[in-house]
Amino acid sequence: MTKLWGGRFSAQINPLADQLNASIAFDWRLARQDIRASLAWAEELTHIRVLNPDELSAITAGLEQILVEVDSGKFTLQPEDEDIHTAIERRLGELVGETARKLHTGRSRNDQVMTDFLLWFKEAAQEIGGALSALQLALIERAERDMEVTAPGYTHFQRAQPIRLAHWWLSHFWALQRDRAYLGFLQQQGDDLPLGSSALAGCPYPIDRQRLAQRLGFTQPSPNSIDSVANRDTAAGFLFFAALLNVHLSRLAEALILYSTAEFGFIELSDEYSTGSSIMPQKKNPDMLELIRAKAGLAIGSLAGFLSVLKGLPSAYDKDLQEDKPAVFDAADRLAILLPVMTGIVQTLTVRASKTRAALDETLLATELADFLVSQGMPFRQAHHQVGELVKTALKANLPLQTLPQAVFDAVHPALYANLERLLDPLAALERRACTGGTSSQAVAQQILAARSMLKLH
Ligand code: ARG
Repeated sequence: MTKLWGGRFSAQINPLADQLNASIAFDWRLARQDIRASLAWAEELTHIRVLNPDELSAITAGLEQILVEVDSGKFTLQPEDEDIHTAIERRLGELVGETARKLHTGRSRNDQVMTDFLLWFKEAAQEIGGALSALQLALIERAERDMEVTAPGYTHFQRAQPIRLAHWWLSHFWALQRDRAYLGFLQQQGDDLPLGSSALAGCPYPIDRQRLAQRLGFTQPSPNSIDSVANRDTAAGFLFFAALLNVHLSRLAEALILYSTAEFGFIELSDEYSTGSSIMPQKKNPDMLELIRAKAGLAIGSLAGFLSVLKGLPSAYDKDLQEDKPAVFDAADRLAILLPVMTGIVQTLTVRASKTRAALDETLLATELADFLVSQGMPFRQAHHQVGELVKTALKANLPLQTLPQAVFDAVHPALYANLERLLDPLAALERRACTGGTSSQAVAQQILAARSMLKLH
């Protein structure tokens, strides 16, 4: 088995050591990116006369042929192929002979792998960003549909105040919007071209890295060759992005699981996104939501795992860094399924507005009574206490608040009883929350406009 680096060695590598060393099992996914980067590198080598035009044509034709093989699934790996870079170089040699051996001039797999990775990331970020936007759009559309659906809002998962269901859907939109912005930041940070950093000290040939950067779709060359081959912040940042996004999805998932129970009955999942039980014929299970919730744990583990790999690494490139790819590819693959599934769930579920409305008992409006007393000049803390006592009295008597005798209300404030009906109307409570970011119809409509214009930015 001939290794590309085999010159200084007299004995063969131990087979298990070889297996541990190899990354081809996962970095085959970088084949197209590796070919693209090599095409650009060959052009640079021609500019500085390391390759003559004929050699460039031969290498270009060879690489293009390999691309066709990759695209058609005909590219076959050999046992000596340690990673995708060596595999493609080996194949290029088979196709164009000796000339292929000039391609690696001035380049190292250290700058090559980071270049390939960032090229991959540019595409992956576009795709994942698109899937994220689709989910965000589904949440906006859901909010538009559920504008007039009133529901309890919860804190500590205890009924707190009435809200528009639209407002709740949008609350998830904004969390995802921050994820979207973070992804944009990662895209910006991953826009420095590593190629031309060579192994660590910089390229000894006078190549034009700015031209190379533009040729490969990067804004500029990386400013420091050592940092450039050491840097795995895009990988770590992406794992953080995936973990936080998945945490956001898990919170939505958990709420939807609860809301779909018979106890709540607020929503029903569509058959398309539910499963049955193998023994209990009546059951409709929210497996997809449970798995979305579970995957968040794996995403967090993967982030923690990879940060631990990076921690304390002493030099520019260490082989430890090879472990970035399985972590990142898995995270990307997971998101590529989770996001569209969550989108489908949100789009197809049925909201039971009668159930959400029925859950709005008058205790959710206790804050309204306190605010009314404030409008009559009572300090808020005192008002809060007095209304708390009214609630206590009603609970003790096991009666709805509004059915307590008038005298009980008069003892708190003479104007309270006359205003009771108005104050205990949930719609009025919603409309009072008209500040920016509130749950009134106008505030929510404004929010939808803002959310839609955010989506257009991407
Ligand atoms: N397969 C390696 C990786 O993914 C490529 C870089 C190898 N560099 C080296 N000096 N052995 O990190």
